[in-house]
Parts: sequence; C-alpha cells; structure tokens
Amino acid sequence: MGDRGLYYDTVPTGIEGLDGIIGGGLIRGRTYLISGETGTAKTLTALTFLVQGALKHGEPGIYISVDETYEQLVEGARRFGWDLEELRSKGLLEVLVPEMDLVERIREKDPTAIAKSLVESIREYVAALNAQRLVIDPIAPLVTLEKDVQVLREYIRVLVMSIEREVGATNIITTEIPSGSGAISRYGVEEFLAAGVFVLGIAKSREGAFKRVMFIRKMRWSPVNPGVYEIEIVPKVGVVVKGPVRESLMPITYLPTL
Ligand SMILES: Nc1ncnc2c1ncn2[C@@H]1O[C@H](COP(=O)(O)OP(=O)(O)OP(=O)(O)O)[C@@H](O)[C@H]1O
Ligand SMILES: [Mg+2]
Repeated sequence: MGDRGLYYDTVPTGIEGLDGIIGGGLIRGRTYLISGETGTAKTLTALTFLVQGALKHGEPGIYISVDETYEQLVEGARRFGWDLEELRSKGLLEVLVPEMDLVERIREKDPTAIAKSLVESIREYVAALNAQRLVIDPIAPLVTLEKDVQVLREYIRVLVMSIEREVGATNIITTEIPSGSGAISRYGVEEFLAAGVFVLGIAKSREGAFKRVMFIRKMRWSPVNPGVYEIEIVPKVGVVVKGPVRESLMPITYLPTL
C-alpha cells in the first residue's frame, strides 16, 4: 500500500531516489509515460517499477513485452541480476507477449475494437494476479507505416483510456522518440494521455563523460520542479536516480531542456 499523499493515494515507484522528487510517488490508477530515444533505458526503468514494486512493496505486476520474446526478456533480466521466473512462481509477476500480427489486425479492423479486446484480456490477467502495476513496453505495436499514424493514435488513445477505466492498476507505458525528431513521443498523443512524463536521455559532460539522465517533463497534481536528473543503471537494483544535474551537459539524444 502506498502512503497517502496530499490529495491522492500514491504508489511508490520502486525507483530509488525518484519518489521524493515527484511528490511521494505515482497516483494510483493513473498512466505514466516513459519516452526516450533508443537505448536510453526505458525498458530497464519500467522493469524496475515492476521488479522493485514486487520485491520492496509486495505489489504484483504485469509486463507486456511488445519488442522482445519471453525468452529474450527472461535471459536479459537474468544477466542483469533479476530472476523474473522466480517472481512469476511467487505470483508477483506475469509476462504477456502479444501476437505479432497485431499491426495487421489494427490496419484491417477497427482500432477501437482491437484496443478494447486487448484491454479485456489484460483485465482478466490483472484480476487473476491481483496486479497493482502494469507496464506496456512499448505502447505501439512493432512496425507501422507513416500513413497509419491517425489509426495508431486512435488505437493508443482507446487503449490508455480503457485501461484506466477498466483495469485499475497503476500503469507505465513506454514510447520511443525517433532520433532527431525533437518530439517527446513517437505518435504525438502519448504525452497528453499520461498523468506524468519522464523523458530519458544520454548527455555528455564537459570532460567528455557520458551521463544517463531523466527529464521530468510533466507530473499532474504534484509540485515538481521540472528538472534534469542524473540516473544510473545498477545491476540487481535497476535504474536509480542520483540527483539533479548541476553541470552543463551536451545532449546526445533528444532532451527538451538541455
Ligand atoms: N548491467 C548494466 N550496467 C549498465 N548498463 C547496462 C546494463 N545492462 C544494460 N545496460 C544499458 O542499458 C541500455 C538499454 O536499456 P533499455 O533496454 O532499457 O533501453 P530502451 O530505451 O528500452 O531501448 P530500446 O529503444 O531498444 O527499447 C543499454 O544500452 C545498455 O547500455
Ligand atoms: Mg526497450
């Protein structure tokens, strides 16, 4: 159970150093977006929310793996020091891998109907596990064509809104920022649906050292100082927020304020 925040029931993120910055945690039942260019640790951050949510807070979670197979995910996590299968055997985690033909189905059929049927099956898994946390990584299905953007936006909108209305977990969705686009999400709709947005990136210091950073772009109903924070990837633990960046950094991936 989360601490009672000033106005809302808050959920501890499980990410060391983050809750204090965002007013205690995430708002229970809402959806948060993690965006960033490729390799900026979106997956590791989302998994930290689930793995530490289970280990530290006893909250079961569901991970929907859109980019990787079950075997790839479990093996990657094992190298990192996380035993996802043990969490599964304890009823603290479930991994779902959607069918690969999702994109074809969205293009051929009504995206609203597809999103709703996906939500219905997510709802059943959430109920079976009594899951408190849900991650969809990433929110949009594998491949898409430029001409599908309107259709994909509608699909994402219905998916997020139906999840909030019908599932009852606290949700993290990830989305990739295409390199060089200058946007904070891939389809330009994800950030408006989210109660909070974390943009992850890589930057370089004057001395030439690479730093991983998190920009807290938006946090509804929480007095957050917008800012850039240095993050670190710690095996077995996950993503850790070290503190505000105080030096001047040169962005290597897109970041809204650097
Ligand atoms: N044990 C580790 N220690 C430090 N860094 C690590 C470790 N394991 C993975 N990484 C780094 O994490 C990065 C990948 O993070 P992650 O997969 O979460 O990124 P992502 O934003 O989800 O990428 P993608 O766009 O491909 O989905 C890798 O580039 C790798 O450098
Ligand atoms: Mg990823």
